[in-house]
Amino acid sequence: MNRSSFQAGAIGIFDSGYGGLTILKDIQEELSAYDFIYLGDNARAPYGTRSFEVVYQFTRQAVCRLFEMGCHLVILACNTASAKALRTIQQRDLPSIDPQRRVLGVIRPTAECVGEITQSRHIGVLGTTGTINSKSYPMEINKLYPDIIIHSEACPMWVPLVENGESDSSGADYFVKRHLDALMSRDPQIDTLLLGCTHYPLLLHKIRQYTPASVRILTQGMHVARSLKDYLLRHPEMDAKCTRHGTTTYYTTEDAAFFSRPASLFLGKNIVAHHVTLE
Ligand code: DGL
Repeated sequence: MNRSSFQAGAIGIFDSGYGGLTILKDIQEELSAYDFIYLGDNARAPYGTRSFEVVYQFTRQAVCRLFEMGCHLVILACNTASAKALRTIQQRDLPSIDPQRRVLGVIRPTAECVGEITQSRHIGVLGTTGTINSKSYPMEINKLYPDIIIHSEACPMWVPLVENGESDSSGADYFVKRHLDALMSRDPQIDTLLLGCTHYPLLLHKIRQYTPASVRILTQGMHVARSLKDYLLRHPEMDAKCTRHGTTTYYTTEDAAFFSRPASLFLGKNIVAHHVTLE
C-alpha cells in the first residue's frame, strides 16, 4: 500500500468487523466535514469470545496501524475492544507510543446517556461474552447512576450472524428471540435495552420484533457521535490536527471486495475498501 494515499489527519474508527459502521454512520452525520479512516478487522472477527490478551494485542495492532496512517485520534467503535483493551492502551501504551495521540472508547458515552432514558430504573444490557464478562457496563453505569438495576445478557451468536450475512435468516430469529426472552424473563420491570455491541443495530429489525413494544431500545451511534463532537470542542488542540475534506477511507483485513459489498449496502452508498494487514 502506498503511504502517500493515507489521509493524514483523519479520525480513525476501529471495529473487529462491520459493527463499527453503525457508529461511523452517525459520526459522519454529526461531523460531516471531517475525514475518517474506517478499519475493520473482519479477518479475525469476532473478538467477543477471545481472551483479554488476544483482544488487547489485536486492538493495539489496529490502533498503531491507524496512527501510521496519520490518525491523531482513534475511536474504538467496538465495545469488546473498549472493555478489554482501551484502558491498557491509554495508560500503558500511549505514553510510550506518542503521548499526544488519543484513543477513545464507546462504553463511557453510552453509559452517560442511560440515566436520562430509563424511567423504571431497571435496564437490560446485551453484549458479547467479552463485554458482559468484563462487567464494564454495570461499573460505568452505576458510577454515574447508582440507583439503576442492570441485568446483562451475553449473546455470543449475534456477531457471527452479522459477520456471516445471516442477519435475515431464521437462525437469527432463533438466537435473537432466545436471548431477549432470557433477559426479559429475569426482570419484567426492564424498560430499556442497551445494545452494548456495535454489530447489534445490524440486527435491529429482529431485535424489535422480539422486544415488548413498551421497551425502549438504545443504540450507541448517536450518543458516541455527540460525545466525539463535544470532545473536539473541549480539545481544540486535537481538533486542529483533524483535517476536514469530508472523506472516508475504508480498510479491512479481509478481502476488500468481501467487505465492500455488505458495507455499501449498509451505508446506502457505494464504497470501495482497501486491504490492510495487521501485525
Ligand atoms: N462490534 C463489536 C462490539 O461492539 C463486536 C465484537 C466481536 O467481534 O465480537 O463488541
